Amino acid sequence: MSLTNPTPTAALEWANELIDFIDASPSPWHAVANAEARLQTLGYIRLEENERWQLAAGGRYYAVRGGSSLIAFVLGSQPIAATGLRIVGAHTDSPGLRLKPQAASGSDGLARLAVEIYGGPILATFADRDLSLAGRVVVRTAAGQQTRLLRFERSLARLPNLAIHMNREVNEQGLKLNKQTELPLILGQLGVGCDAEAQLKKLLADAVAADAADLLSFELAVHDVQKGCLWGANQEFIASRQLDNLSSCHAALAAMIATKQPTATCVTALFDHEEVGSESAAGAGGSFIADVLARIASHARLDEEDRRRAMARSFFISADMAHAYHPNFPNAYEPGHKVRVNGGPVIKTNANQRYTTNAETAARFIGFCEQADVPHQQYAHRSDLGCGSTIGPIVAAQLGVASVDVGSPMWAMHSARESAGVHDQAHMIAALTAAFAS
Ligand code: CO
Repeated sequence: MSLTNPTPTAALEWANELIDFIDASPSPWHAVANAEARLQTLGYIRLEENERWQLAAGGRYYAVRGGSSLIAFVLGSQPIAATGLRIVGAHTDSPGLRLKPQAASGSDGLARLAVEIYGGPILATFADRDLSLAGRVVVRTAAGQQTRLLRFERSLARLPNLAIHMNREVNEQGLKLNKQTELPLILGQLGVGCDAEAQLKKLLADAVAADAADLLSFELAVHDVQKGCLWGANQEFIASRQLDNLSSCHAALAAMIATKQPTATCVTALFDHEEVGSESAAGAGGSFIADVLARIASHARLDEEDRRRAMARSFFISADMAHAYHPNFPNAYEPGHKVRVNGGPVIKTNANQRYTTNAETAARFIGFCEQADVPHQQYAHRSDLGCGSTIGPIVAAQLGVASVDVGSPMWAMHSARESAGVHDQAHMIAALTAAFAS
């Protein structure tokens, strides 16, 4: 690719759609609500886990657990025992900061918010950014307790850096923040007799049109309000918060939506809590996916024997972001596996099974890339650095299905503002679409 090559319009459209999806999804609850809205406009029917399911041949459905995990599926035209399932999984959560339940406190004329670190963010990247709050609150209403999504479009809180005059070594030592004492966010100035906790409650209650006295509880994530953008000499890169892993959520949904009347039953599973280990009711380590698949099998009237046959014929693609080579830090990478941004989907391999990929599943995914006419790349982590993991091994172990770990290349994983390639979103959608059609 040269600097003068125009980016194909279709790739630009996908990239801009991704930026809009992330902008509308500052928390995992918003990500699921937006995925749900998209699916509903396309005729997908919501199934409630606490009700009996009625599934029609060729039907399109989805279920939500915990408000932040969603599994959608399209029933295939062929019997499940004969085709197995095509499953793509990704995660809705991103590392960052979360508010503690009694977050606000006042001192020295300022209201501050106590935060807990969620997953493994690059903490320094949250300093001096235009931060805000998003998530869900539960309010008391005449009709009972009600959960409402909450977000502030405007910048609301901040983590100002310490001036270099008091932190002379910052450029040599890096920005080190004490997790307890140096992370609270500044929320505002306190007037005389003003109570920080009351101020926060009023702010939250006003945002969901409720009385502060009726605000019972909340889960709120801190995010950067700056919208994603394209950058680079030819606008070939994307910068945004939460590219890990809303890029893969968006790609999986786009591929699923493009899949009309598939032969095999296709499943898109978007899980919360990956960044904290997936061990939760709604996470990939919980029963959500097994429960949904069991209900699909029961509606297809599969006996135990056919259920086992179906799983043995199934294929699971764990889609999560991959580390692109950063030329300023050549020693951070395995020399034989320099992944390029805009170089196509990355197949991630780890012999210690931090990734599920094996020779056969890698080859199968390469086949999907070839069918879709997109390039692919291979990634292995340096042997002297700890390797990350994904939902892949957790789902693969639980379901006993053939699996592969893939992802789009990116820079600055877990930064408050990450980067990826415009072309790669289109590449991944095309590869996943081929997988659903297989
Ligand atoms: Co991830």
